[in-house]
Amino acid sequence: MIRGTDLEGVYTDGERLYTRNSAPGKAVYGERLVISEEVQYREWVPTRSKLAAYVRSGGTFFPFRRSTSVLYLGAASGTTASHIADIVTDGTVYCVEISPRSFRDLVPVCESRPNMVPFLADATKPQEYSFGIAGVEVVYQDIAQRGQAQIFIKNFKAFSARCGLLVIKSRSEDVSQDPHRIYEESKRQLQSAGLKVREVVRLDPMEKDHAMIAVGSP
Ligand SMILES: C[S@@+](CC[C@H](N)C(=O)[O-])C[C@H]1O[C@@H](n2cnc3c(N)ncnc32)[C@H](O)[C@@H]1O
Repeated sequence: MIRGTDLEGVYTDGERLYTRNSAPGKAVYGERLVISEEVQYREWVPTRSKLAAYVRSGGTFFPFRRSTSVLYLGAASGTTASHIADIVTDGTVYCVEISPRSFRDLVPVCESRPNMVPFLADATKPQEYSFGIAGVEVVYQDIAQRGQAQIFIKNFKAFSARCGLLVIKSRSEDVSQDPHRIYEESKRQLQSAGLKVREVVRLDPMEKDHAMIAVGSP
């Protein structure tokens, strides 16, 4: 039997996580579809989605509500973005992805979920996609590229966001550095830009050498 958790839109059977499938019958990345009391859920797999890994690791900053508007940077083929879209059913997930290959896979996922809007664009240049985006409340970023904190700050300010979640892949910053020092340096950069850091949660072992940094007011 699947039941709700303390996090809005996140469900569990006591062992696994789920979101309510907003595109019934459709899986995005081969995840299991499960029906419980006539509602279809999609399993949310922590080794495939860093946001699920964050929840599994005890992350508590979860700013997604039914009507939340989210800017998602590094959407790839829509694995995590589609789970967020399941949660923000009356909101919008603006999905920015730079790779044409991943974007090709993202488009059909967005076509089956009307609250996902895809942009083939570079997250370091928010001016290139800001034309189609209004009222961003939450920035979610997962791009494996050097300068992750600075790209997040740029977008956070460009869209006057209220809060956000930033994935830091330490090896994208410096393979030779201790990951803990990279997370601390990213936190320092966010704070120097005037952003309030709420928590830093390491995602190991589900996502090796990654941490999630939560920023702003929920
Ligand atoms: C680790 S994957 C994202 C996985 C995805 N967030 C998920 O959980 O389903 C990182 C993605 O960021 C994209 N990326 C890297 N640099 C980018 C940039 N400057 N602008 C937009 N996307 C970028 C990559 O092409 C890749 O698809």
